Amino acid sequence: MLEIMAKMEVKTSLLDNMIGVGDMVLLEPLNEETFINNLKKRFDHSEIYTYIGSVVISVNPYRSLPIYSPEKVEEYRNRNFYELSPHIFALSDEAYRSLRDQDKDQCILITGESGAGKTEASKLVMSYVAAVCGKGAEVNQVKEQLLQSNPVLEAFGNAKTVRNDNSSRFGKYMDIEFDFKGDPLGGVISNYLLEKSRVVKQPRGERNFHVFYQLLSGASEELLNKLKLERDFSRYNYLSLDSAKVNGVDDAANFRTVRNAMQIVGFMDHEAESVLAVVAAVLKLGNIEFKPESRVNGLDESKIKDKNELKEICELTGIDQSVLERAFSFRTVEAKQEKVSTTLNVAQAYYARDALAKNLYSRLFSWLVNRINESIKAQTKVRKKVMGVLDIYGFEIFEDNSFEQFIINYCNEKLQQIFIELTLKEEQEEYIREDIEWTHIDYFNNAIICDLIENNTNGILAMLDEECLRPGTVTDETFLEKLNQVCATHQHFESRMSKCSRFLNDTSLPHSCFRIQHYAGKVLYQVEGFVDKNNDLLYRDLSQAMWKASHTLIKSLFPEGNPAKINLKRPPTAGSQFKASVATLMKNLQTKNPNYIRCIKPNDKKAAHIFNEALVCHQIRYLGLLENVRVRRAGYAFRQAYEPCLERYKMLCKQTWPHWKGPARSGVEVLFNELEIPVEEYSFGRSKIFIRNPRTLFKLEDLRKQRLEDLATLIQKIYRGWKCRTHFLLMKKSQIVIAAWFRRFAQQKRYQQTKSSALVIQSYIRGWKARKILRELKHQKRCKEAVTTIAAYWHGTQVRREYRKFFRANAGKKIYEFTLQRIVQKYFLEMKNKMPSLSPIDKNWPSRPYLFLDPTHKELKRIFHLWRCKKYRDQFTDQQKLIYEEKLEASELFKDKKALYPSSVGQPFQGAYLEINKNPKYKKLKDAIEEKIIIAEVVNKINRANGKSTSRIFLLTNNNLLLADQKSGQIKSEVPLVDVTKVSMSSQNDGFFAVHLKEGSEAASKGDFLFSSDHLIEMATKLYRTTLSQTKQKLNIEISDEFLVQFRQDKVCVKFIQGNQKNGSVPTCKRKNNRLLEVAVP
Ligand SMILES: Nc1ncnc2c1ncn2[C@@H]1O[C@H](COP(=O)(O)OP(=O)(O)OP(=O)(O)O)[C@@H](O)[C@H]1O
Ligand SMILES: [Mg+2]
Repeated sequence: MLEIMAKMEVKTSLLDNMIGVGDMVLLEPLNEETFINNLKKRFDHSEIYTYIGSVVISVNPYRSLPIYSPEKVEEYRNRNFYELSPHIFALSDEAYRSLRDQDKDQCILITGESGAGKTEASKLVMSYVAAVCGKGAEVNQVKEQLLQSNPVLEAFGNAKTVRNDNSSRFGKYMDIEFDFKGDPLGGVISNYLLEKSRVVKQPRGERNFHVFYQLLSGASEELLNKLKLERDFSRYNYLSLDSAKVNGVDDAANFRTVRNAMQIVGFMDHEAESVLAVVAAVLKLGNIEFKPESRVNGLDESKIKDKNELKEICELTGIDQSVLERAFSFRTVEAKQEKVSTTLNVAQAYYARDALAKNLYSRLFSWLVNRINESIKAQTKVRKKVMGVLDIYGFEIFEDNSFEQFIINYCNEKLQQIFIELTLKEEQEEYIREDIEWTHIDYFNNAIICDLIENNTNGILAMLDEECLRPGTVTDETFLEKLNQVCATHQHFESRMSKCSRFLNDTSLPHSCFRIQHYAGKVLYQVEGFVDKNNDLLYRDLSQAMWKASHTLIKSLFPEGNPAKINLKRPPTAGSQFKASVATLMKNLQTKNPNYIRCIKPNDKKAAHIFNEALVCHQIRYLGLLENVRVRRAGYAFRQAYEPCLERYKMLCKQTWPHWKGPARSGVEVLFNELEIPVEEYSFGRSKIFIRNPRTLFKLEDLRKQRLEDLATLIQKIYRGWKCRTHFLLMKKSQIVIAAWFRRFAQQKRYQQTKSSALVIQSYIRGWKARKILRELKHQKRCKEAVTTIAAYWHGTQVRREYRKFFRANAGKKIYEFTLQRIVQKYFLEMKNKMPSLSPIDKNWPSRPYLFLDPTHKELKRIFHLWRCKKYRDQFTDQQKLIYEEKLEASELFKDKKALYPSSVGQPFQGAYLEINKNPKYKKLKDAIEEKIIIAEVVNKINRANGKSTSRIFLLTNNNLLLADQKSGQIKSEVPLVDVTKVSMSSQNDGFFAVHLKEGSEAASKGDFLFSSDHLIEMATKLYRTTLSQTKQKLNIEISDEFLVQFRQDKVCVKFIQGNQKNGSVPTCKRKNNRLLEVAVP
């Protein structure tokens, strides 16, 4: 699609970038000079193709041009003929498409001189068609076989000539067959008259057929040995030596190509080898030489000089040597059951040898063609479309022109004839038939020349045949004489000896020659060899010898050698055979649509870039190209029957589209009027419309194309419209359904919303109303309650007022008290049961039931404790009571003050430790004291001077404190309690204490006392109590680790220190100096 669009966009034309003019029809002015100049100009710019209408002129460039690439193939593919610059591909494409699409069989007629490029052109056409036609494995194989038949046929049928290094020495017509789709099915090749004389003799500067050189150069040693050949060309008489090598041609490589091609085409290996064996036999035949040998009858008889070569040939071909040897020496003539054998002289033997070689080769060639045909023939029987490609040898004018040239040129005459017939004459005749005005163009019709050659009664070929068949001595001279008689008056026949005296003095015309004025020029033919070549005689002995060969291919090439099928009738002459095949060819071509490629040779040197104007001019003239242009210009480029024309273009006009009801012709008239095509551009024939200018046609085509596009667009538009509409309607329908559903849903939702809103509002309103009612009701209720309360109070008041007299005013309090009482009662009753023991040290106490009872509970606890303590105390005796009082006093004085105190608590205060009364030792002392002794104990009195201690009895009475010697009991000191001012002691665990005396008192003369006792606490306590009871003054007790004592005059500081453990647990006392007494407490 993209490709098509791309092609549609690029609207090109032949006229684009044109060098000179691409179509000679456009040449202005038209004459020979401008024609040649145009060709030259284009040739110089490498534009080798030029059109005359639909005819392609091709000028051989003699160099390879980059215009045949696959890209070019694509460029020209499916394009209008006049759309691109002229090219052989355009013509090929046109022919192929016309074959494929319009079912018209095609023929491509390629004409031109030898070396003008016909064979190349035919190959280009074939390769183009192969490139554009169908693809696929099978199709590709067919294509490949068709293409590969060329190298095989060229090897055997082409040779280097002076005009062309690869000159086709046979005519070739190839029908390529296609199926209805345009895929190639196969092909049929027809060959025309191989120039077999070349096998035995080549003109100067020319070569034998390529295959000989290819075989000798390219075959392996092994193959050469097998074929009994030597590589050296000079070993073979049939190979001219002067031009054995051709420049730029690699025979060896070509040999491989040919072998490969044979394989592709379908030759079996043994077939290929047989073919090469025949080629080798032909080469070797040339080496057989004869020598004369005198015979008894005086005549010379030929003998083979060296039988070695003959032997080898026989080995190669499997022929009995003696048979072949005899065939070269004798000639047997059979007539009316009589066999006459004559010996051959040397010349005859050579003639026989060469005839055999030529025949062998040309028959091999025909066999090859048939064999190829067998391979490439279409496999199916379906109806085929055919494209014929004719590549026949070009018109030839040599110095020496013989029978071959005559035949070749006759063929070219016929082709020119068909060209004339099909283009010029046909054209004019059609105009007349169609009643179209026609300006007559003079052109040379070569029918007269054809007639001169082929006329059955007095044509040259007929004369030749007559001469050949005539009994009696027949020579080339007698043939010429005959011609001179019969054709003398013919204006295209020239001969010195003819009756017509015109040429009597024409020195350019030798006596042994005749000249024909061909359409392409005058050609002088040497009459020598005409009869022989026409007879194409091969002695029957030779053909019989060949038939006897065991080599099957050779045997099959000579069927007439079979004695069982002996045929006394002469075989048809070469001329008549050729005439017949040309006639068939012409008939064949006439049924097909012709396409012309006119090849022109720019120079004689086979060189690039040289444009020999004279040479080209000559070719243009004899090809009648100028007339061709004139006819194109005078006439109409295009014609078509009315019906198809109307059918094709009716869409361009409203009246004719879509149907025209009248006759087709008037429809076309309307159409052309409508399209405003200038009247001079077309003419109406009886059955056809004639369009003068191709451009008008292109315009019509373009309009049609445009219109088709428009129509396609219209169809597309309507279809799209319909599609869109259907789609739209469907969408609309769907949309309505969706909308309905959606609306329903939306409405439902809205309804639900409204409903719920209404409910909310409603509920609010109801709530509000309810609350309002409730408020009112509450109000009413409260009013009622108030009323009730007021009423109650009122009633209460009333009632109380009324009943006050019946109640005590403090009934509530009573009840309260009663309740309280009950609680308390219960509390106490419970307490009674829970009472703890009477031990003062029992800490238990039941928990209290009510918080408000807390103070009571505590109080009760306290009271209970006090009570049980009292109970406990009440058990004490007076003495015990005293002891406890003292203990209590001691506790008050020393608890938490003196470290010694806790150890004293457990010790009962005994007071009189020393039982003075009982001990007689202290009788005196007892007597001295009248008062009651409160303390009698031994203490250590510390010496004031040195701190040493001495035991003294310490006695306390109600009024005095006495110290007595422990041993004697003699009172040492007596201090009235009133003189005791203070007692000092340390806070530590020691038993030292100082008794301070009132200064100035009698007792104080020696100073204060310092003691140490084990019962310090008891002594201090009793001292205090006694002092208090006697003096009513509290004794000062100082507890300090440093205190002052008065020793006589000195104030000494007693200092308690933490002593070391040296002295054990006994505190030591030491007077340090006047001022210090140190007590070390452990
Ligand atoms: N289109 C071309 N491009 C390049 N070279 C070309 C072209 N056509 C022809 N030639 C050259 O010209 C030579 C002769 O061409 P070709 O063999 O086609 O001539 P011909 O017309 O067949 O001659 P003959 O009648 O002798 O067979 C070719 O070998 C080739 O070198
Ligand atoms: Mg050729």
